[in-house]
Amino acid sequence: MSLIQRLSVLGMAAMAMGLVASHDYGEALTKSILFYEGQRSGKLPPTQRITWRKDSALRDGFEIGVDLVGGYYDAGDNVKFTFPMAFSITILAWSVLEFGQSLGTDLQHSLKAIQWGTDYLLKATSIPGFVFAQVGDPYGDHNCWERPEDMDTPRTPYAVSKEFPGSEVSAEIAAALAASSMVFRPINRGYSARLLKRARMVFEFADKYRGSYNDSLGPWACPFYCDYSGYQDELVWGAAWLLRATKAPYYRNYVLANIQNLDKSSSFAEFGWDTKHAGINLIKSQTPEPFITNADKFVCSVLPESPTVSVSYSPGGLLIKPGGSNLQHATALSFLLLVYSRPLSKDSRVIHCGNVFATPARLIQVARSQVDYILGSNPLNMSYMVGYGKKFPERIHHRGSSLPSITQHPQHIDCTGGATYFYTNNPNPNLLTGAVVGGPDIKDSYADSRADFAHSEPTTYINAPLVGLLAYFKSH
Ligand SMILES: *[C@@H]1O[C@H](CO)[C@@H](O)[C@H](O)[C@H]1NC(C)=O
Ligand SMILES: *[C@@H]1O[C@H](CO)[C@@H](O)[C@H](O)[C@H]1NC(C)=O
Repeated sequence: MSLIQRLSVLGMAAMAMGLVASHDYGEALTKSILFYEGQRSGKLPPTQRITWRKDSALRDGFEIGVDLVGGYYDAGDNVKFTFPMAFSITILAWSVLEFGQSLGTDLQHSLKAIQWGTDYLLKATSIPGFVFAQVGDPYGDHNCWERPEDMDTPRTPYAVSKEFPGSEVSAEIAAALAASSMVFRPINRGYSARLLKRARMVFEFADKYRGSYNDSLGPWACPFYCDYSGYQDELVWGAAWLLRATKAPYYRNYVLANIQNLDKSSSFAEFGWDTKHAGINLIKSQTPEPFITNADKFVCSVLPESPTVSVSYSPGGLLIKPGGSNLQHATALSFLLLVYSRPLSKDSRVIHCGNVFATPARLIQVARSQVDYILGSNPLNMSYMVGYGKKFPERIHHRGSSLPSITQHPQHIDCTGGATYFYTNNPNPNLLTGAVVGGPDIKDSYADSRADFAHSEPTTYINAPLVGLLAYFKSH
């Protein structure tokens, strides 16, 4: 890219930002948490606020005598994939630990969102030696366009075990339970202790019986939430959260001994449900090295002006990485930038990316630019959060949102009966308020098409880091 092109890219991004008035981060925050109520599986409480959703999957696990009712649907389908679900809970918990003070009245709802997940994770790990990695036959489900309330596809439970291990899914559950135990410690000591005890147990299982659920579950895991990056990162990540929750030397030694095993070639800009590398270096209560060096490298791989940047930016200024559901990267990496800006500010430290200096204020500015883009400061002037702003996605790839509600249409709509609602050009009848979709492409365009799931599907792990970001920007 020539200097002129670079300048014009920056100019356009600045213009896009200047054109739209500042955002109501508080409103967006409330909505980003509300979204989780729309993803709930199981028996809904009387306090349910997204009321077009009703009870669903009330017999999950019963065919094998285990109660697996509850938890979250990961995205626009009706499968409960524990691996990304646990990651979403870890990040929601991290959001609360880091920015809880700014949550205000949204704190209660955030705690509910976390507990809806941890209650399920306790069920998924209630039998020693087994971890339920998902519920629902993903092929049956994906071939159907059905409301969760109508589901008649096989709700097969899939478990990993000592013989058929799944270290990534198990260690991610350990991370989620450990992080959540810290959230609940000042509020409900008993529950917090239960979460922590289970976290230690599940971590031990993950570490002792090593292997990828890729191999153990085969086609039931891949290509849906295939573990590309291996399970070493989840083992270190799980141990790092247990270290933060317990301060136990065992976990400190574990992290230090095993961080060396992490794939060095993998990009420092990786952080998501599959890859934990960049996040590991930012969890507090670790010794400084090698974490600070790695965290600095992370910053230099993300900032647009850095000579070692490894992500792309659209002309409108959106962070882009290859693959679907791009906004997961924009929210997760921005979250890490914001988290890391805090110790940097405290120590008045500036990061050197070659001859480019990165101040803590610059990290916050980049994070804010991504949040603002998502909320409408972009070339299309559109918000990518459903129900926020004047213009937002109307045809999201989401079964419940796109089919008429049970109240509007009490009769059963079967597997193929939903096709009409999938193919229609009409907007979805039910607003999944707060859902953030996969987002625009590298040219800042967005088709708003249900069939284009890589761009139009919301997921629990796009929103989780956004909760922390919005809490911070609401009060800064
Ligand atoms: C999981 O499967 C994918 C696709 O087959 C493969 O690329 C990846 O390396 C596997 N991961 C592990 C940890 O075996
Ligand atoms: C976005 O808003 C600005 C200012 O109101 C306007 O000039 C521009 O044409 C809009 N772009 C689109 C694609 O609507």
